[in-house]
Amino acid sequence: MENKEDRRDRVFHGDGEVLPFEFNDSVAHVFDDMAQRSIPWYKEVQRMITTLGLTFYREGSQIYDLGCSTGTTLALLAQAFSERGIADYRMVGIDNSEAMCREAREKIGPAGGDRISIRCADLEETPLENASVVIMNYTLQFIDPLAREELIGRIYRGLNHNGVLIVSDKTLQSHTDTSRIFVDNYYHMKRQNGYSEMEISRKREALENVLIPYRVEEERDLFLKSGFEGVDIFFTWFNFSSFICLKKS
Ligand SMILES: C[S@@+](CC[C@H](N)C(=O)[O-])C[C@H]1O[C@@H](n2cnc3c(N)ncnc32)[C@H](O)[C@@H]1O
Repeated sequence: MENKEDRRDRVFHGDGEVLPFEFNDSVAHVFDDMAQRSIPWYKEVQRMITTLGLTFYREGSQIYDLGCSTGTTLALLAQAFSERGIADYRMVGIDNSEAMCREAREKIGPAGGDRISIRCADLEETPLENASVVIMNYTLQFIDPLAREELIGRIYRGLNHNGVLIVSDKTLQSHTDTSRIFVDNYYHMKRQNGYSEMEISRKREALENVLIPYRVEEERDLFLKSGFEGVDIFFTWFNFSSFICLKKS
């Protein structure tokens, strides 16, 4: 029987060659532990997203989770719907990692029925329609910057009137000194969560040119430029921010 230790993130523990970061089998297997120890206030952000998802969901529409990984957000939303006695909803999780989709299907299990579907697809090519809520939690940062504007525009068009886009990402700050101080605090958090200096530095190298953060203003401008009217930050911790973007027209 599998125990908790088998699911502990040791992906960057060794001393072999550092390859560009990928959401492969070994990452998917330990992703929940990785997220909780690497993303500040991960559980709280998920809780806030669940609350926002329930607030903006409209009967007969769809909720999309783009880059759903192991399905944590979808599972929390499903639990919240069930606690409120809401059975008639439809959620779609999209991820282009087979391993992540497998983990998500396992986490959601048969209880998801035909209300929750996990699609293994490239979100840059997936059509979105009739959405009241679109969630992109720590995923936009992995999309080629040249493709971001087209993607956010497509999400905007797929959202219904009064719909919402919720995005969390790692960010850069407007001054390099501030960015450096924030990143130092971030690595301190990772040390406190049990990662070694070696693991931190190897992961940083693997993420180089794979995770490309925007400055907070740059990310906000991207949403405004795509047509979103109300763009606000609902959570921030040093170099991480979560945005809520409203489509009013
Ligand atoms: C950091 S994880 C997201 C975490 C997750 N949303 C959560 O809250 O736990 C980023 C995910 O985006 C997926 N991803 C990255 N680029 C993608 C693309 N072009 N199409 C679909 N999924 C993508 C990865 O496979 C990975 O599972």
